[in-house]
Amino acid sequence: MNKIICGNSLEVLKTLADNSVDMCVTSPPYYGLRDYGESGQIGMEQTPQEYIEHLTEIFMEVHRVLKPTGTLWINIGDSYAGSGKGPMSLAVAGNGKNSTLYAKNSKVHEVPKTWDGIKPKDMIGIPWMLAFSLRAKGWYLRSDIIWHKTNCLPESVKDRPTKCYEHIFLLSKSRKYYYDYKAIQEPLKQVSRERYKRGRSDHSKYAGEGLQQNINRQRDDFSMFDQEYKRKRDVWEVSTNTFKMDEHFAMYPEKLIEPCVLAGSEKGGIVLDPFFGSGTTGVVAKKHGREYIGIDINPKYCTLAGKRIMGVV
Ligand SMILES: C[S@@+](CC[C@H](N)C(=O)[O-])C[C@H]1O[C@@H](n2cnc3c(N)ncnc32)[C@H](O)[C@@H]1O
Repeated sequence: MNKIICGNSLEVLKTLADNSVDMCVTSPPYYGLRDYGESGQIGMEQTPQEYIEHLTEIFMEVHRVLKPTGTLWINIGDSYAGSGKGPMSLAVAGNGKNSTLYAKNSKVHEVPKTWDGIKPKDMIGIPWMLAFSLRAKGWYLRSDIIWHKTNCLPESVKDRPTKCYEHIFLLSKSRKYYYDYKAIQEPLKQVSRERYKRGRSDHSKYAGEGLQQNINRQRDDFSMFDQEYKRKRDVWEVSTNTFKMDEHFAMYPEKLIEPCVLAGSEKGGIVLDPFFGSGTTGVVAKKHGREYIGIDINPKYCTLAGKRIMGVV
């Protein structure tokens, strides 16, 4: 199965069979930041709305190819409208001033100064625009995971806090879906273990007594206090890649998507990424015994991803 398909995601996805893929994890291009130099690329639309429409179209094809139990995990960051000073580029949250990392090989893209209802300097709200658009089309919006970038770059702005997070939205095709919480649970700290044990013995007679937040829990749920683990929370602390592959500057860290792959698929399952870039999704899928289908519009990135997955670069 492992495949890298070079082409426009929307067109390539149309060639994949219905209900054939276990999960999808991906990071679409930021809005208005980088010209990847390919016609049909996502991110260079004239308005945020147009960008959201294109992404929605692509993710509805993903919806079709996912099995009914399938999930979609989208890593997406916000953008700010240009300040009105200097070149009309967008600053991307958390990547430093106009993201010099990206600027190296890219053209500065001209975007309009203002859009309807969005002034220069405004945060656009891209992640939630996308989440609501997909929800309106039938996806179940299940979680807004915050990727806290523990090593985010400083920003030059002095009139707001430095942005140090992005979102990972977890969406499902159906109301019930595959989610292996055990695969990503985390060891409990000793102090929490002791607190839970104390809590449990306090309520041996009446469920929840003296531990208000548990009053409405089923009695059986107390068995979870015996466990050594806690369920994964929705703020994930992961540092950004400190290394960059020469030709690709928008890689997400392997650690960031490992929990998505482990919770969203069984061994042997198929993981799809319609914005494959340098192939991080393929690397993680392979490492954990999953199959992958990666799609990217840029032939250079397709070659790079193939080499990276084979361990040649
Ligand atoms: C943010 S990068 C993905 C990076 C990837 N997660 C990684 O770790 O390397 C987005 C990718 O989307 C690709 N892309 C942009 N528009 C596309 C389209 N219409 N179809 C397929 N790929 C597209 C770009 O070439 C770029 O490699």
